[in-house]
Amino acid sequence: MSVRRNYEPKEKFVERMRELLSGNEDVERYFEVAKSVPLKSIRVNTLKIGVDELKSKLLGKGWEVRQPFSEYPEIIIVDGIEPGEIGKAREHLLGYYYVQEITSMMPVIALGLRKDERFLDLCASPGSKTTQAAMLMENTGSIIANDVSLGRISILSANLQRCGVMNSVVTRHPGSELVLKLSKLGMGFDKILVDAPCSGEGNIRCSPRTYLEWSEKLLKSMGRKQKKIVSEVVGLLAENGEMVYSTCTHAPEENEEVVQYLIDEFGLEIVPVKLPLKVRPGLLYWRGKKFSKEMKNAVRIYHHDNDMEGFFLCKLKKS
Ligand SMILES: C[S@@+](CC[C@H](N)C(=O)[O-])C[C@H]1O[C@@H](n2cnc3c(N)ncnc32)[C@H](O)[C@@H]1O
Repeated sequence: MSVRRNYEPKEKFVERMRELLSGNEDVERYFEVAKSVPLKSIRVNTLKIGVDELKSKLLGKGWEVRQPFSEYPEIIIVDGIEPGEIGKAREHLLGYYYVQEITSMMPVIALGLRKDERFLDLCASPGSKTTQAAMLMENTGSIIANDVSLGRISILSANLQRCGVMNSVVTRHPGSELVLKLSKLGMGFDKILVDAPCSGEGNIRCSPRTYLEWSEKLLKSMGRKQKKIVSEVVGLLAENGEMVYSTCTHAPEENEEVVQYLIDEFGLEIVPVKLPLKVRPGLLYWRGKKFSKEMKNAVRIYHHDNDMEGFFLCKLKKS
């Protein structure tokens, strides 16, 4: 495990991780892995190339590749290459693969997208999950890939084009505006993903500067923003439609509290998910707040459990 330059976490962050994790050894391991260099992973874009064909091309370049999950052969870990090489390779430019952290693939796996479904990706840029969804849907059905940031929308469009995605429309609206427009058209969705903007605690290995920007005030204001974003699109779920809410952070203010809000205000129900990683259950309690029993079916992912980035996700259903 190679180690690199790091910033020190604030005392309050350490305190919170002590509350979230289970004992000294767990906490020590968390902060030890936080200083290590993350694995490099890619997702084969089967819209353009077969897994075996790409694998032999990469082996031919001298890359060391391994497929950690037999159920998901398209997920590949790459070892033994120079920094930057993975993004500059010809195969990447041709859209044969998408460079994507493995935990970031979990929300779309949890959604279980199928052919011919109607899918809304509300916070879609730069498009890692939209391209993954299009692949699972085999370019059928329809995807609305939305984001509010103009700069990021252009990267999203470029990624969709590079990956040969043909079933998507890119839109740029805050949720409330999008809902108004789509409801006028009578559109509902079978699946919605809200991969919300967040404080990024789970990304500490890729972005150690997160420690510098971190504060409890930030977590609280992100929580308010996320509740607003996610609540705006609930009305677009079709009957029996399903939604995944995800963040790359550990803060319960941005995770369980947002999910609890969806349960209390909109009557959504949590659906259990099966993922190929070591995961921990959602919290039932945090600093004086009690959550529904079903919150145990939300998913917490810590980087030291899988040598991958930290994440939170919860699948919900409109019944
Ligand atoms: C975590 S990133 C999404 C990453 C993306 N899902 C992917 O996998 O490539 C969060 C995104 O939410 C967008 N965003 C922030 N506020 C939003 C809002 N009100 N409506 C839609 N998107 C928003 C940000 O511009 C950012 O691109």
